[in-house]
Amino acid sequence: MATPQQTAIQQFLSQADKAAKTILETAQKDGYITVFSHLDADGVAAAGIIGKALFRLDARFRIRVMQWVDEKIINEIQADKPQLVIMTDFGSGYLDLLNEKIPNIKVIILDHHQINSKIANPNHIQVNPHLFGIDGATDISGSGVAYFAAKAINPSNVDLAPIALVGALGDMQDKYEQRSMHNLNQIIVNDAVTAGLLRVDKDLMFFGRETRPLYKMIVTTTNPFIPGLSGQETETINFLEDTLKIPTKQGEKPRSLGDLTPEEKTRLCSGLADYLMSKGLHLAVDDIIGYVYVLTKEEPNTALRDGREFAVLLNSTGRMDRPSLGIAICMGDRKAALEEANKILEDYRKNINKYLGWVAEKPERMRELQNIYIIYGENFINEKIIGTVSSIIVSSLANSEKPLLAFANIEAENAAKFSGRTTEAALRKGINLGDVMRLASEANGGKGGGHNIAAGAQVPLDKVEAFIALVDELVGRQLKGEKLGISNNA
Ligand code: C5P
Ligand code: C5P
Ligand code: ZN
Repeated sequence: MATPQQTAIQQFLSQADKAAKTILETAQKDGYITVFSHLDADGVAAAGIIGKALFRLDARFRIRVMQWVDEKIINEIQADKPQLVIMTDFGSGYLDLLNEKIPNIKVIILDHHQINSKIANPNHIQVNPHLFGIDGATDISGSGVAYFAAKAINPSNVDLAPIALVGALGDMQDKYEQRSMHNLNQIIVNDAVTAGLLRVDKDLMFFGRETRPLYKMIVTTTNPFIPGLSGQETETINFLEDTLKIPTKQGEKPRSLGDLTPEEKTRLCSGLADYLMSKGLHLAVDDIIGYVYVLTKEEPNTALRDGREFAVLLNSTGRMDRPSLGIAICMGDRKAALEEANKILEDYRKNINKYLGWVAEKPERMRELQNIYIIYGENFINEKIIGTVSSIIVSSLANSEKPLLAFANIEAENAAKFSGRTTEAALRKGINLGDVMRLASEANGGKGGGHNIAAGAQVPLDKVEAFIALVDELVGRQLKGEKLGISNNA
């Protein structure tokens, strides 16, 4: 007999099938399709997957990447009157709006956000794991949902499985033991491995395994942070070269973690274990080892070879207003788009470092309230990058039960963009930020939602303080065990 999880997966897949049939029918009739997707790594990957599937069908289509669903999208749809709209990595939080404004337009929503509407319009087909009790925050991303629809359109689209995995990594869904994937995400991993496109290794978890010189990777790591090595270039080079006898260069070229031989890697792991022990650090070597995802058909020493580095590259294109570069890469471009995207990535990193430095500079820029932390990014932080800043800073608050909010002003729209992230401890206490952001924004003339673990909102500038106060209150109520929402949350 099927387990409940298998049944849920079957139901999810047959819903993906239904969406695929509608897409096929539209393409066969030469209908015009507009795709809207979210601007982060997952959204860009989802757009690339659907773009490739439509391209292979020889369909007529256009892709637009946005920060959220709003009246602007609706107006475009009303003006263009496409035969089909596909939304990826957003849409489920906007069913009411779609039903109110475009009830007669066919819309396919391939999403993994919390659903908070009871409306079922037969023109609006939704594929979403929450419908079947599968957790969309951890077990499948927007690009994963797009992937299953693409695979149902044509099994040859399994070659897009690595892109779906990259999207899930961008959404930080590697939350299981030693950073593994689970449930529908694990099916994607298996598909990619079977297709010969992916290798899953257990390795050191430092970021930059393909593109950063080995010593730099250890010097720049903040998670994990290794006292005595992180931040200390000379000490790290001496440790590698003299203590472990691992050359940091091959000729003139610096070596990356991906370049090490298996023996050298073993030596590095046990060397680090000994080092941690000799310093009396409570960090065990197991804590710095986990699963890494190697895209075997990509060139070594490029950001595309490692799933996590690939995700950051996509994120940078979306958040720096160049999502078409990321989409082109997902669709197979390895020339002009990749070269340009690498430059964008550099600028993106500079921006993030500038923002992190700015927050740390003055205590009033990050305030602690009764139940939350809040970063006042106001006119300094770009509203498209505020989400990344929030994700990075929350990782340093791991043991706190208080979630983190950050906001930036969008003066032109007279609004503020909020990005919320929970800590692991807050999540265990039953915090659902998606509910908090939705309720608090709607009470203040805005709009919001997302996942339990990560959620966002836009609110009018003159409501910022009222919104913050309500979020603080609602989080306090959730911490006391109160359930606030009606979201269809797995
Ligand atoms: O819209 P979407 O679901 O793609 O975005 C999820 C966002 O939440 C991503 O930007 C991701 O980095 C963030 N996230 C997070 N921590 C998690 C899960 C998601 O910061 N555990
Ligand atoms: O923008 P940010 O990365 O902070 O968003 C966190 C999560 O909340 C994302 O999954 C995003 O799509 C979602 N979100 C939403 N509705 C909003 C704003 C953000 O569902 N109005
Ligand atoms: Zn997503």
